[in-house]
Amino acid sequence: MKDYRKMNQAAWEEAFEHSSETFKMSPIKRLKEDPRSILSTPLKDTLNHVNLKGQTLGQFCVNSGRETMALMDYGLLESIGFDIARNMVDYANEVSQSLNLNTTFYARDILEIEDDFKDRFDIGLLTIGAMCWFDDLMPLFEVVAKTIKPGGRLMIEDSHPITNMIGTSSEEGYDPKTPKNLMYSYFRKEPWVEQGGMGYMTDKDYDSKTFVSYSHTLTEIFTALKLNGFTIDYFKEFDIDLSSMFMHLEQQGLPLSFTLIATKI
Ligand SMILES: C[S@@+](CC[C@H](N)C(=O)[O-])C[C@H]1O[C@@H](n2cnc3c(N)ncnc32)[C@H](O)[C@@H]1O
Repeated sequence: MKDYRKMNQAAWEEAFEHSSETFKMSPIKRLKEDPRSILSTPLKDTLNHVNLKGQTLGQFCVNSGRETMALMDYGLLESIGFDIARNMVDYANEVSQSLNLNTTFYARDILEIEDDFKDRFDIGLLTIGAMCWFDDLMPLFEVVAKTIKPGGRLMIEDSHPITNMIGTSSEEGYDPKTPKNLMYSYFRKEPWVEQGGMGYMTDKDYDSKTFVSYSHTLTEIFTALKLNGFTIDYFKEFDIDLSSMFMHLEQQGLPLSFTLIATKI
């Protein structure tokens, strides 16, 4: 869909304008008291396999930067975050300065990150809800690969692609008696076009600008990594929901999330 990234920028900036006090204030409290509580169990598990001490980390699609800042607690020298929503980036920089963290945020469409960031990071990071904003993972991983030093690592934590097949209670055709029913194709190519707001940020429904997102299969993820010069070192699936949409399906035999570590050769 033409211009979908501009549409998403407008929709995410609007979501941040509507965001609740809790959404803004709770991470600040946690960053002060227990930064690691911000990170998911799968991401913390993955961090057991990557040494962050003294390293520079770059995170892509950071929202208001809570994870990028929380990761400083693992001994990073510096962390840098990118997001397309200018108001979130301004806010994230304010929070980082107020907490005296060596974390800086840049307002960028990831696909337009310039060559100044070439070979800048020892470690790259994509967490839940980052890859789905790109219709094609090839150009995304091309940019991500550019910013990581040769021999550097990329960590990914996200919802499992299987979850794109499962319906949610707000969707037409959803039957609460059979919540495991698969409603959508794993191989879906058409975008998800939504105007229901970003409830997790706003704690309310509102008629929003249009969000456009895409499903990606594991094959697409692995292939785009390989073709952009990564080797996969570690891949793990979890029955833990990261999205708050499928908590009722946790520990029932379905893969709900995954993490991955790759090395740039
Ligand atoms: C679901 S949020 C990520 C949340 C993050 N994992 C967290 O837990 O805080 C997705 C973010 O991607 C950003 N985004 C969407 N398209 C983008 C693009 N083309 N370039 C950069 N950021 C983008 C949005 O502004 C939004 O803040």
